[in-house]
Amino acid sequence: MSEAQKDTKPTLLSGIQPSGHLALGNYVGAMRNWVNLQEDYNGIFIVVDMHAITVRQKPAELRNRCLSFAAQYLAAGIDPEENIIFIQSHVPQHAELAWVLNCYTYMGELNRMTQFKDKAQRHEDNINAGLYSYPALMAADILLYQTDLVPVGADQKQHLELTRDIANRFNKAYSPTFKVPEPFIPKSGARIMSLQEPEKKMSKSDVNENNYISLLDPPDVLVRKVKRAVTDSAREITPDSLQNPGIGNLLTIYAVLNDLSANEVISQFEGHQYSQFKGALADSLVAFLEPFQQRYDKIMAEKGYLTGILDQGASQARYIARKTLSKVYRKIGFVAPGRV
Ligand code: TYM
Repeated sequence: MSEAQKDTKPTLLSGIQPSGHLALGNYVGAMRNWVNLQEDYNGIFIVVDMHAITVRQKPAELRNRCLSFAAQYLAAGIDPEENIIFIQSHVPQHAELAWVLNCYTYMGELNRMTQFKDKAQRHEDNINAGLYSYPALMAADILLYQTDLVPVGADQKQHLELTRDIANRFNKAYSPTFKVPEPFIPKSGARIMSLQEPEKKMSKSDVNENNYISLLDPPDVLVRKVKRAVTDSAREITPDSLQNPGIGNLLTIYAVLNDLSANEVISQFEGHQYSQFKGALADSLVAFLEPFQQRYDKIMAEKGYLTGILDQGASQARYIARKTLSKVYRKIGFVAPGRV
């Protein structure tokens, strides 16, 4: 693509925390749309390691996971020639803008964030200030790049709304500085549920591995996890199955993986036993994840290739981020270095 073409495209940005195992929920809710939308946008895809440390991480695991997640972005089909892919901590402007935005975010707003309440409950011994002000860092991630569209799952809607409020507040206090981003939340698959506890969302950091499908699960594990997924006591698929948390979730996953509407899946499987449908779902997962994993293994075997992409991505990101940050510093009244 020429630079002129790039200039006319809007910007799409998203990120994933390198915690736990990249899961099917993340793919269906977010990454899948990154891949589908990338042609029409200048894409920026971040491995948000600074967000991940709001919960304790083992350093060696965090390091490996950052590379592994970036490789999975590529294996999913993000084109590194056309998009910027980088690790958040390689671009210091995220921390710098986050500090400024913290001063434009009210505690009343942060108190309302359900992800904070949820994580504070799960990590009672470590309710740190970073976990609390996390949304200001996320706003910085997005606003640094004058982002137009942010494809995420439903659980990030509240953070996106706060990002928009912060951007509007800053723009109003000074003059237009940040583009106000729009969320992109898919109609289907925005909230994939846990396999064993279908009343809660599938989480990549769940302590019970049977609750999620990792994108790197080998075929026998995929088959076993689907077989064991909790469903109700009915045994046959009916149109009402879609409303049922357990089987409804599996039907949604099948629909998304096969590019079908919910009604098309029902007409394909109406009257089938749950076990038969689960077999078809496991086949779909294996068919999708086997080539994904082959691409992943190849990328991970060429570490130089991967780190080259991440280095280049970080340097492109820093170039854009610096421009926005210096604009912000000027507007709020910071003296430019060398002008004292
Ligand atoms: P994270 O790391 O928890 O999740 C990454 C992405 O996956 C989506 N997602 C789901 N979608 C459907 N069903 C599920 N069960 C499911 N679980 C997770 C999330 O909505 C998200 O899109 N704060 C963000 C990371 C972030 C970010 C950003 C995102 C930091 N800066 C800037 C966009 C733009 C987070 O914790 O996502």
